[in-house]
Amino acid sequence: MGGLVKKILVIHGPNLHLLGEREKNIYGETSLDSINKQLLKIAKDAGVTLTILQSNHEGEIVDAIGKSKADKFEAILINPAAYTHTSVAIRDAIAAVSIPAVEVHLSNIYAREEFRHTSLIAPVARGQIAGFGEHSYYWGLQAAIRLISK
Ligand code: DQA
Repeated sequence: MGGLVKKILVIHGPNLHLLGEREKNIYGETSLDSINKQLLKIAKDAGVTLTILQSNHEGEIVDAIGKSKADKFEAILINPAAYTHTSVAIRDAIAAVSIPAVEVHLSNIYAREEFRHTSLIAPVARGQIAGFGEHSYYWGLQAAIRLISK
């Protein structure tokens, strides 16, 4: 048995702190802050606790995933952003902790430049939601909640 309240780790990768200002035609007008508020609301309604990290540093993300099991997280919701396409280290960290991870993207990465068509994370994630703007996060969180609510 874990703690009383189930915990989910939310990770936003590089440049996502600029949401709402950054390439609005691709990523939308919603700020990361308001996405986080909505995530916290969904979590509260479901009775789970979120810890939210935004980082532009690969190693910091690897560290957070690496200790997520010891920190008693039961699932990870992650938008690895540009590291999706490059980071063997984040992929290996997810594989190492064997906590279910849900990968999300605001944009449909398969409909964009070819270098975005490959996700190094997808093979170690339980599933991926991409292309629905901020709703990718909300549905991704609901998927993560469902995974740990059995
Ligand atoms: C992204 C897609 C990535 O290709 C890109 O590097 C990002 C954001 C998305 O949410 O659509 O920074 O992960």
